[in-house]
Amino acid sequence: MNKILVTGGAGFIGSNFVRYLLQAEPGAQVFNLDLLTYAGSLENLKGLPDEARHNFIHGDICDTGLVARLVREQQIDTIIHFAAESHVDRSILGPAAFVQTNVMGTFTLLETARQVWGGDFHGRRFHHVSTDEVFGSLSPSDPAFSETTPYDPRSPYSASKAASDHLVRAYFHTYGLPITITNCSNNYGPRQFPEKLIPLMVLNAVQGKALPVYGDGRQIRDWLYVEDHCEAIYLAARHGKPGETYNVGGGNQPHNIDLVNEICAILDELRPAAQPYATLIQHVTDRPGHDRRYAMDISKIRAELGWLPRHDIETGLRETVAWYLENPAWVQAMLGQDGYDSWLEKNYGQREKAN
Ligand code: NAD
Ligand code: DAU
Repeated sequence: MNKILVTGGAGFIGSNFVRYLLQAEPGAQVFNLDLLTYAGSLENLKGLPDEARHNFIHGDICDTGLVARLVREQQIDTIIHFAAESHVDRSILGPAAFVQTNVMGTFTLLETARQVWGGDFHGRRFHHVSTDEVFGSLSPSDPAFSETTPYDPRSPYSASKAASDHLVRAYFHTYGLPITITNCSNNYGPRQFPEKLIPLMVLNAVQGKALPVYGDGRQIRDWLYVEDHCEAIYLAARHGKPGETYNVGGGNQPHNIDLVNEICAILDELRPAAQPYATLIQHVTDRPGHDRRYAMDISKIRAELGWLPRHDIETGLRETVAWYLENPAWVQAMLGQDGYDSWLEKNYGQREKAN
């Protein structure tokens, strides 16, 4: 891993990964290709360690010419692919961008790697960052998802990620491209765009706005601190066996409503207001096709790569809430972004309130 192309490195997980990588690989040059959609921001790349080894390229992973030039001219040996449309609610209201970026974008990168590397795959790696949502939804008594659980995606987002996973695996079987895939559960931590549950709740709460919980709030996600995910991706890309998939998860599975109550309790302590923050909780119309429960069986990555999450949800969540309170410039940049308010209106304006 000397010349590493990271796609989507100005987004939430990608920017945390770039930070991680610059420290983990002291000899590596990092090329960060990002389109800077609403979800990507140069704010996320401020204060990188050893900045001189980070090169930002503003561009689209679907731009074949640009991607091919970059991989050829910079002699890229490793591709770590994060770039995607990532928000389930946006995929429900506008699926086309998900098919374009997540399917065609992944295809463009795979095809470029195959052609530019020209069959000489020694010392090369294509790592694809994917999601647990490809496996569908669990009932309360189902065992956790394993690497052999059949795919059963339910939203345009998860269907587009499933399609991209299939393409990545096909390039291994057909062309021998040395790929690895990680399928991970819900991440939380610093620099997550405030359309996702945790930052949305923190930032709505401190503005005294309603906290919109979908449906009964009894859905379950398997929360993982973002730095732990970065470590898992790094280990899989560096030491994972070509062709293999690794499931990654945190083993933290609260009901959404309990998580939101916990965020409120942390805020009551860190930034007390006149009323407890939990009084802002509002149950609203559910997400269509809302997956009920996710859980990840991480025994393979633990056994083969020695990976385990380092953060539990109690400390990770507290640190995360504190980060959003302590970084008002970042918060202002995200909330002030063109289109943020209209997104809130589009997604939440039509939902009925249940309490
Ligand atoms: P994000 O939405 O925060 O960031 C996505 C980044 O991709 C942004 O910087 C955006 O500008 C960039 N991007 C989008 N379209 C692009 C294009 N056409 N060309 C170049 N760049 C483009 O997403 P995230 O939450 O950081 O997720 C990153 C990856 O991890 C995604 O592939 C997602 O499916 C996967 N994942 C996310 C989670 C999670 O909990 N957030 C969990 C598991 C897997
Ligand atoms: O599981 C991994 C996936 O986690 C990633 O692949 C996705 O990129 C990422 O966005 C995330 O998907 P979710 O749909 O689980 O995340 P989100 O933060 O949107 O929602 C988490 C849960 O909270 C989910 O059950 C829906 C619920 N929710 C979400 C929002 C935004 C609410 O109740 N209210 C809300 O306003």
